[in-house]
Amino acid sequence: MPYAHITGWGKCIPPASISNDEISEIVDTTDEWITTRTGIKARRVSHVSTAELASVAAKHAISCAGVDAKDIDLVILATCTPSTVVANTASLVQKNIGATGAAAMDTNAACSGFLYALQAATAQIQAGMIKKAVVIAAERMTWYVNWARRDSAVLFGDGAGAVVLEAAETPAGLLGTKTGCDSEDRDILHITNFGSNLNKYEPIGPSDLLFEGREIFKRAVKGMSEACDDVLEQANLKLDDIDVLVPHQANLRIIQAIQSRLKVNDEKVMVNIGEYGNTSAATIAIALCEAVEQGLIKPHANIMSAAFGAGLTWAASYIKWGERVTPIAVSDATLPPCDKTGLELVAPAVKACKDAEPS
Ligand code: UT7
Repeated sequence: MPYAHITGWGKCIPPASISNDEISEIVDTTDEWITTRTGIKARRVSHVSTAELASVAAKHAISCAGVDAKDIDLVILATCTPSTVVANTASLVQKNIGATGAAAMDTNAACSGFLYALQAATAQIQAGMIKKAVVIAAERMTWYVNWARRDSAVLFGDGAGAVVLEAAETPAGLLGTKTGCDSEDRDILHITNFGSNLNKYEPIGPSDLLFEGREIFKRAVKGMSEACDDVLEQANLKLDDIDVLVPHQANLRIIQAIQSRLKVNDEKVMVNIGEYGNTSAATIAIALCEAVEQGLIKPHANIMSAAFGAGLTWAASYIKWGERVTPIAVSDATLPPCDKTGLELVAPAVKACKDAEPS
């Protein structure tokens, strides 16, 4: 059975950001509250669509792998903020990156989406159906944000990350995985005013990200820790064998709780929530890319990753890194310039959300 090595990695971080001090001009909050409760210092706001973020991240991953986009068999995009639903967003990414021979599909498992997609693409490679895939996670979470609600407005941001998978004979890539969904409690994290269950002929207000933060917090720690335990057992690994932990970036306190359950030292944990906030499916894809860029992931590293999100979906993955930690080539792909600040970008949405609030 072939393995699915990660041979390329890339990201796309939109340039405009909103700091905690700036967001306190929008909602009743403080830098101190956000920092101590979440670890977030700023979040990015995209001036372009999810498809554009995804395309730039994918181009970087493809150059890094040194492959020709035309040889890619599958483009899989994990997102809960698709640019378009029909046609799917992955088809636009496939076109943008020139992967004209590839199948293209979107997948939505919210914050667990990247690990779900990695599993699906790996399985296709292992089954011998395909040889090369690009797995992307891209989100424009600020599109959903209700800027009148301080509990959710401060948490989310936009961005994208991607990896290239290639069939190979030696054991590396995704070597252990467990995904699941606690659907009984799916209502504790959901987005309102979106989807075909609405009467589209009646006015629909701004979407709301509704969640029971404390409840999700507890379930996230328990769900991710248990999934990691299962994967460690599946892969016959001990806690000491973990070289790097790449967790979903939803809350620094959740990351620290998992870290302490897995007995992993600070220097082995990839944390970038401070700069980007929660970018849903994209957090792990971006964090994985930055962990290689920063030298945290070394050749043959044992990486544990875990995610938790709406559904309530959860996932844990054991990834064995290959030999190479440097790109074969570097893409010059960038987003179009952005001439607005983060606050300027969200200003129309802020006004609409506040106008829609009951007075
Ligand atoms: O990726 C999957 C989705 N992830 C999540 O949903 C994250 C999981 N949950 C969390 O990260 C945390 O529960 C939150 C960061 C969302 C909230 O932290 P918390 O420590 O659980 O706070 P809390 O919800 O219990 O609220 C504590 C207080 C409340 O005031 P009272 O009732 O104690 O007077 C809130 O109204 O903090 C208040 N509060 C805020 N205050 C200032 C809520 N949001 C804010 C805010 N600024 N932005």
